Amino acid sequence: MKTIIEPFRVKSVEPFRMTTRKEREAILRAACFNPFLIHGRDVMIDLLTDSGTSAMSSEQWAGVMRGDETYAGSESFYRLRDVLHDLTGFQNILPTHQGRASERILFELVGGAGKIVPNNAHFDTTRANTEHSGAEAVDLAIPEASQPRNRHPFKGNMDVGALEALIRRVGRDRIPVVMMTVTNNTCGGQPVSLENLRAVRKVCDAHRLPLFLDACRFAENAWFIRTRERGQGGRGVREIVREMFDLADGATISAKKDGLVNIGGLLMIREPGLFQRACNLLILTEGYVTYGGLAGRDLEAMAQGFREVVEDDYLGYRVRGVEYLGEKLLASGVQVIEPAGGHAIYIDAAHFAPHIPRDQFPGQALVCGLYRIGGIRSCEIGSVMAGPGRTPAMELVRLAIPRRVYTQSHIDYVAEACGELYAQRDELRGLRIVEGPEVLRHFTAKFAEI
Ligand SMILES: Cc1ncc(COP(=O)(O)O)c(C=O)c1O
Repeated sequence: MKTIIEPFRVKSVEPFRMTTRKEREAILRAACFNPFLIHGRDVMIDLLTDSGTSAMSSEQWAGVMRGDETYAGSESFYRLRDVLHDLTGFQNILPTHQGRASERILFELVGGAGKIVPNNAHFDTTRANTEHSGAEAVDLAIPEASQPRNRHPFKGNMDVGALEALIRRVGRDRIPVVMMTVTNNTCGGQPVSLENLRAVRKVCDAHRLPLFLDACRFAENAWFIRTRERGQGGRGVREIVREMFDLADGATISAKKDGLVNIGGLLMIREPGLFQRACNLLILTEGYVTYGGLAGRDLEAMAQGFREVVEDDYLGYRVRGVEYLGEKLLASGVQVIEPAGGHAIYIDAAHFAPHIPRDQFPGQALVCGLYRIGGIRSCEIGSVMAGPGRTPAMELVRLAIPRRVYTQSHIDYVAEACGELYAQRDELRGLRIVEGPEVLRHFTAKFAEI
C-alpha cells in the first residue's frame, strides 16, 4: 500500500477557525504583511516552525500528572536521565529550558575572543551564542548543500577537507570544539551520514579536539542514515542513534524538536571537569541540576517523548509525510530543495516569482500569498531574514511541519494552495520595508506592497 497513515488516533482536538479570503486580506494588512505579527487564532495551518509545536501523546500527558516537583532530586529528572543514558550512553546530563540555554552555557565555558568554532552549518542561536562569547563561527558545509536541485543523500555533511585546512591554518589551540548539527537545519533539514560523522571524529582525534553534536533532530537523522546510507539498512534506529552519540564528547539538544515536547532542552558533556563547570553555570541562571529551569512535569513529558521518537512507526510516518509534501509541490511545478529534509520543505521563491527582484523580497511575497490563499503561515528564509547588506545564497520559504499535528488532508490542502498560488504567480507583488530593526528584522519588520 502506498499511503503512509498517521500511526496514532486523535484523542483530543483543537479546533481552528476557517477564515475567508476577504478576512485574511484584512488580517494581513493589519499585520503589515508580516505573518509573525498575525495572531495564532487567525492562522489555519501553521507551518512557521517545527519547534515546540508537537502534539504530545496520551502517555506524555499521563507523565505530566506524574511530574515530581521536588526542588532537588526529583524522580522525574532521574527517569529522564535514565531514558537518555539508555539512548545515548551519556552519564552527565543536564536539563535546560531550551536548546539555546545549553548553547549559552557551553560557549561561556569554551568560547571567547580569538577562538574559532567550526560547524557543518551553525543554526542562528548557535552562531549568536558563539559570537556573543567573542569567538568566530565558521560554517563548513559540503558544496552540494547550496545546490537546490542536487539530490545528494547527505547534504548536511561537513566538508572534511575544509575542516582539516582550517585546523592547519589557525592551529588546533584556537579551536575549543568542533560541532556537527544533525540534521542540518540551515541547509534545509538535510541529514549527516554516519560515514561523515566518523570522518570528522577521526580528524578531531588526530588533533585532540572535542566533537559536540547539535542534536535537536537526532532521530530524524538516524532514520535517514538507516534508509539512505549503504550498509545501514539492517540496523535498528536505536543502534544508529547510539553510534552517533558514541562518536561525540558532548551535545546540546533542543527537546522542542525530537523530544516531542513544547519546551525543554539538554546539555550532555562527557568530560567530568567541564561538566562540573556547566553545573555551576546552570545553577546561576537556569536552576538546580535536577530541574534546569523546567517543571518536573516537563521532564516527564521529555522522558516519554525521547522514548517515542525513536519508534519505527513514528519515524517512517514523519519522514515520509514531509517527503510527500515535497513530491506534491514538485508535481505542480513548484521548485523545492531536493531531496526533502526531515522537518520542512523549502520552496525556491526566486524560481516561484522570478518577476520580483531580490530587493523586493520574493520570499516574503510568497509567504503573504500563501496566507492570503489558504490561511497558511510559513517563514521567509532569504533577504529579509539575512538582514540589510547581506545577500543569502537562496531566497527560500520554509514550510516547517509540526510533529503529529496535521493529517494527510491538511498536507493535501497545503499542496493545493501552493499549486493554485503557483498558477497565479504573476499576480504576486514585491514588498518594501517601511519600519524595522537592523537585527533579526524578520520578527518585527513592517512591509508595504509595491
Ligand atoms: C539546529 C538547531 N539548533 C539549536 C536550536 C535552538 O533551540 P531552541 O529554539 O530550543 O533554543 C534550534 C531551534 O530551532 C535548531 O534548529
